[in-house]
Amino acid sequence: MNAIKLNNGVNFPVVGIGTFMLTPADAENSTREALKMGYRMVDTANAYVNERAVGRGVRESGLKREEVFISTKLWPSEYENDNAVDETLARLGVDYVDLLFIHQPAGNWLAGYRQLEKAYREGKAKAIGISNFEGKYIEELQTKWEIVPQFIQVEAHPYFTQKELRNTLDNYGIKLMSWYPLGHGDKSLMEEPIFEKLGKKYDKSPAQVILRWHTQMGFVVIPGSKNVAHIKDNLDILDFTLTDAEMDEIAKLDKGMRYYHRTDAQLEQFAAWHPKFELA
Ligand SMILES: NC(=O)c1ccc[n+]([C@@H]2O[C@H](COP(=O)([O-])OP(=O)(O)OC[C@H]3O[C@@H](n4cnc5c(N)ncnc54)[C@H](OP(=O)(O)O)[C@@H]3O)[C@@H](O)[C@H]2O)c1
Repeated sequence: MNAIKLNNGVNFPVVGIGTFMLTPADAENSTREALKMGYRMVDTANAYVNERAVGRGVRESGLKREEVFISTKLWPSEYENDNAVDETLARLGVDYVDLLFIHQPAGNWLAGYRQLEKAYREGKAKAIGISNFEGKYIEELQTKWEIVPQFIQVEAHPYFTQKELRNTLDNYGIKLMSWYPLGHGDKSLMEEPIFEKLGKKYDKSPAQVILRWHTQMGFVVIPGSKNVAHIKDNLDILDFTLTDAEMDEIAKLDKGMRYYHRTDAQLEQFAAWHPKFELA
């Protein structure tokens, strides 16, 4: 598995599997099958309410704990819960995670970030990250962090490449992990003629070309899927290289278009919402 070096020296896989909106049964299945076929990273979150299932999938894969990178996220309801990290680890059934995010800049997010820093110092999180902290949020955090995060997880795809944010990230060696890397399955993105053309050239599907583009942009990708054939395809993207001219052509698709528009009112709702965690 290709890896990138984080700003704390950790080598981190460039492709993982995402589990947003997957039921526990699907998340368990996708995690187990992905790891068995060669993935080494899985991304979940308190809010996905499938951490126990992901933990089961990891154990069922037969891999040793240290062979798998587990990424999860504290939800705002947990930012002031001093046991949030331990409870997250207990749901996953592990004694550390490889990457721990705060999920949203909502509620007392600085308390959440302090929890990440504490978990990092205690070895309970091998890397830490911020999710959805673009613009004023990362600017404010920069004046307050004691440990620079290793990752930011944000919406990114060929229609929206996070150009402005990347300037800040480069100053600190923070890596970008793309969510909605395939536009959440959007047909118009996947049916862009350039991806079909390049797919034919490299004998790949449009989705594979898009995912390869992400990795060549220096992004880590976590395409979500409950379809084993897609999961297999999404890993099979590292044996070809798009040329500079092809990367330039794809860059022309950037129209600054997000699929997801978060409002301040939503941030308030996020702060008030408590995930109903799986009991077993
Ligand atoms: N931090 C955040 O706030 C945040 C927000 C959203 C997502 N995320 C993370 O990012 C991950 C990725 O986002 P996402 O899952 O929402 O969107 P995505 O990866 O852009 O797209 C997933 C959709 O694409 C389809 N798909 C996957 N592989 C395909 C392929 N090879 N060919 C055709 N269709 C394919 C999937 O359907 P099938 O199941 O049929 O394959 C699914 O409908 C999430 O799972 C989650 O871990 C984080």
